Amino acid sequence: MVNDQVMAPKHSFVVALFLFVIINLNSFGICADDDLAHGASYIFGDSLVDAGNNNYLPTLSKANIPPNGIDFHASSGNPTGRYTNGRTIGDIIGEELGQPHYATPFLAPNCTGRTILHGVNYASGGGGIMNATGRIFVNRLSMDIQVDYFNITRKQIDKLLGPSQAKDYISKKSIFSITIGSNDFLNNYLLPVISMGARITQSPDAFVDDLINHLKGQLTRLYTLDARKFIVGNVGPLGCIPYQKTINQLSADQCVELPNKLALQYNARLKDLLAELNDNLPGATFVHANVYDLVMELLKNYEKYGFTTGSKACCGNGGQFAGIVPCGPTSSMCSDRDKHVFWDPYHPSEAANVLIAKQLLDGDPKYVSPMNLRQLRDL
Ligand SMILES: *[C@@H]1O[C@H](CO)[C@@H](O)[C@H](O)[C@H]1NC(C)=O
Ligand SMILES: *[C@@H]1O[C@H](CO)[C@@H](O)[C@H](O)[C@H]1NC(C)=O
Ligand SMILES: *[C@@H]1O[C@H](CO)[C@@H](O)[C@H](O)[C@H]1NC(C)=O
Repeated sequence: MVNDQVMAPKHSFVVALFLFVIINLNSFGICADDDLAHGASYIFGDSLVDAGNNNYLPTLSKANIPPNGIDFHASSGNPTGRYTNGRTIGDIIGEELGQPHYATPFLAPNCTGRTILHGVNYASGGGGIMNATGRIFVNRLSMDIQVDYFNITRKQIDKLLGPSQAKDYISKKSIFSITIGSNDFLNNYLLPVISMGARITQSPDAFVDDLINHLKGQLTRLYTLDARKFIVGNVGPLGCIPYQKTINQLSADQCVELPNKLALQYNARLKDLLAELNDNLPGATFVHANVYDLVMELLKNYEKYGFTTGSKACCGNGGQFAGIVPCGPTSSMCSDRDKHVFWDPYHPSEAANVLIAKQLLDGDPKYVSPMNLRQLRDL
């Protein structure tokens, strides 16, 4: 009897301990699976999607100064290295696809361990398709380097998951987004500094040809590293950014012709390139994101989308469109940040990024083809 009474509590203790272990194992198991269920974004590009890599580079292109990030909730409004007031298009898309946190900048010290399975961001302000692009900033990660860095991540994923699960995860659950090309025009071909730009030695046709050939090589390298789901953005209407409109002294509804013409020339070739890769790289899907038309629509019909201006930067100084001095602690800043398409002389506001991201996620073939991002994810 005495023994039984002693036994009972002991027994239930053991049962409780047993349950405790099971529950913990279980939640651990679910967590480990759930962990990867929503896949990852591997983000390549320039300042439009840089989430902080340039913070770790000795460069003149930096965004970790206020008031950048003022509307970024995850940092309580502190600057993070994003070139906008809030989230980038890459951040918003990752969030919408259910990924547990924003893709971590490759150069950030916490870009280690299982964190990389939830996405890595290689984008860098000033970066371009060509190595020479963005030289005026001294340092930046150009696209070739970004792909080299993914090659490092690729080997780390093999170690974390084992080669076969790693290959599966990268080819089926990972979206590779590429937002590059603007700087190849703005901070290379169109640079007024004679010795810097490629314009003195190359015709527009030859330069665009070079860009497309290099990008083809870069995308093909990602394919050989098992990337299969790609979304590639074309170049926006560069002649309509506040910087270009200010230095060319245009009125609110005008855009500078040459940069837009070059962008359209590149964009036509890009569309063909993506169709060619869809045909020639088995198992790969290259989605074309028509950023040019999307941004043009926002600029032309800004009032329809709740903006009060499609020409003036919210943060910046100089000229009619605040388009000369970049955004920083001494800049003037608008009070209605979600009423401006442009945050600064070069970059869209978070409000514009939300509208663009929404179209890429759920939009129709006019803006995203041959399928949208949610369809690409579910392939
Ligand atoms: C990594 O560090 C950055 C910068 O400090 C931070 O914003 C981010 O949330 C961290 N990411 C993870 C996954 O811990
Ligand atoms: C960049 O430089 C590397 C060598 O440093 C070279 O292999 C590569 O082709 C160059 N890429 C471009 C786009 O010029
Ligand atoms: C990745 O790195 C390995 C060396 O570690 C190299 O052999 C391979 O060619 C690289 N792959 C790409 C696509 O750059």
